This record gives sequence, structure tokens and C-alpha cells, in this order.
Amino acid sequence: MSPEPKKDSREYNPDIGVASDAPSHKAPMLWMGLVMLTLVVLTFFSMWGREKISIRASPIIPELSALAQTGRDIINTQCMACHGVDGTGFSKKDPPLLHPMYREEIFPDFHFKRVLREGRPQKNWRFGPMPSQPQLSDADMNGIIAFVREVHTATGVE
Ligand code: HEC
Repeated sequence: MSPEPKKDSREYNPDIGVASDAPSHKAPMLWMGLVMLTLVVLTFFSMWGREKISIRASPIIPELSALAQTGRDIINTQCMACHGVDGTGFSKKDPPLLHPMYREEIFPDFHFKRVLREGRPQKNWRFGPMPSQPQLSDADMNGIIAFVREVHTATGVE
């Protein structure tokens, strides 16, 4: 007596000539769905907590002038806690000094120096106020400004 034909759908199906578990046209759709879901999830997480203004490009640190190097050293000691290494401020708690909004034409040297001398209340970011930096000499400030300008130029932010 021949055995009962199995109802298992995975068995070879002589009617259609292929194993019924052969890849069907549904498989690519499933993969596309998964890829799209992953993209949506990644987009969501990358936008989560994003600052209202973000830095446009990763800064390129060029071969620095001696003056800009002094500024870089000052930034990486006295300003780093709030503005990040090299003033890049990439974390969610520090405003980036290398942001395009501090480029020369909209943030000229005299304005830069006034902020350093007098500080300023919170305005462009949500990190609280910028405290005044009375310890900085004029030469220190020139160094800081030179660093920011040289990085802007190298990065193409002008
Ligand atoms: C205690 C934290 C803190 C320290 C230390 C600090 N800053 Fe700031 N700074 C801030 C914050 C916060 C802002 C953003 C204020 C705002 O919302 O516009 C800021 C803004 C600035 C701005 C932009 C101001 C403007 O008008 O938009 C400059 C330039 C700046 N800081 C330079 C420096 C330099 C250079 C140093 C080191 C000598 C320094 N800061 C040290 C917190 C700090």
C-alpha cells in the first residue's frame, strides 16, 4: 500500500515542477522591505537630538601658521571642555567654533574678540551662556581667530 501523500508544502510538487520552497518572487520584496525599514530606523536615530544648527562639513585641519597653532593650543586647553577638540564640538553638548556661522564675513574679528572679552548669553545654541575669557591676551585671541579662519579656508567654508 502506497503511503499517504504528505501534505507538507515543502515537498517537491510535480504539478509545478519545482520544489515549493524554491525562492519565490516574494523574497526580493521581503529584502527590500527590510532594507527600507533599516533606513527609516537609521534616519530616525541620526536625527534624534540633532542640534537646530549642525556643522556642515567635517573640518579639515591644514598645515597651520605659527599664530594659528598657538590658537589651537589655547582652544584645546581652555575652550575644549565646552567647544570640543579643535573647536569641532561634535558631541551634543558643545557648540562648534568651526561652524560656518563663525566665518569671517558674518563673524568678523572685532565681534569675535568682543565675545571673548565680554562673553554672551545663550543665543544660537542650547548650551547655556558663553562665559567671558578675561585671561586671554590680544595675541591669544588673534591665535584663536587665525586657527578658526585657517580651518574654514581649508574646509572650504568662506
Ligand atoms: C563654560 C563653557 C565654555 C567655555 C569654557 C568656552 N565657551 Fe565659548 N561658548 C560657550 C557656549 C555655550 C556658547 C554658545 C552661546 C550661544 O548660544 O550662542 C559659546 C559661544 C562661543 C562663540 C560664539 C559666540 C557668538 O557670538 O555666536 C565663540 C566665538 C566662542 N564661544 C569662543 C570660545 C573660546 C575661544 C573659548 C576658549 C578661550 C571659549 N569659547 C570657552 C561655552 C563656553
